[in-house]
Amino acid sequence: MPAAIVMVATAPTLAPGLDGFRLILHVLAATVWVGGQFTVAGLLPTIRTLGDDAPKKVARAFGRLLWPAYGVLLLTGFWNISAVDAKHASSAWNAVLGIEIAVVLIAGVAVFLHQRSTSKVGLAVWGAIGALASVAALCLGVFLAG
Ligand code: HEM
Repeated sequence: MPAAIVMVATAPTLAPGLDGFRLILHVLAATVWVGGQFTVAGLLPTIRTLGDDAPKKVARAFGRLLWPAYGVLLLTGFWNISAVDAKHASSAWNAVLGIEIAVVLIAGVAVFLHQRSTSKVGLAVWGAIGALASVAALCLGVFLAG
């Protein structure tokens, strides 16, 4: 007879005030960094109809929101680590954290190169890498939160 798998659900609890504030800042910045990239990409066909220089102007304006959000993600990301009992974290948690930091750096570099790129191929490749790495960081963050 196959062994039974017992799933034990734990009672939901509210996050304490400061933890809630830290995570709200982290998640808000993630919505701007990740969601903003997809929103601007989705609006691009319409933006193009507004004039030849419209995509550049929008990209510059978006950069003014994007990079402060990335800064907040880095600051609150390290705040997240200092707030958990990292000494007793499992090796799997530490491995996921290492990958998280790597994909965050890849996302930052790729989005930076995307903004600097002047060729169509460069724009497409760095834009895609930046978006994929950003989504990967978001998914890994959810697993880190447990
Ligand atoms: C592109 C950048 C990033 C994105 C999109 C992102 C996204 C997220 C998300 C969505 C969560 C889950 C929050 C929750 O479910 O409550 C999270 C948690 C977490 N993130 Fe990030 N993150 C980013 C950067 C970073 C960085 C740079 C670090 C570390 C230096 C970091 C460390 C963590 C940790 C430790 C948690 C778990 C927090 C906890 O359990 O209290 N993140 N992240």
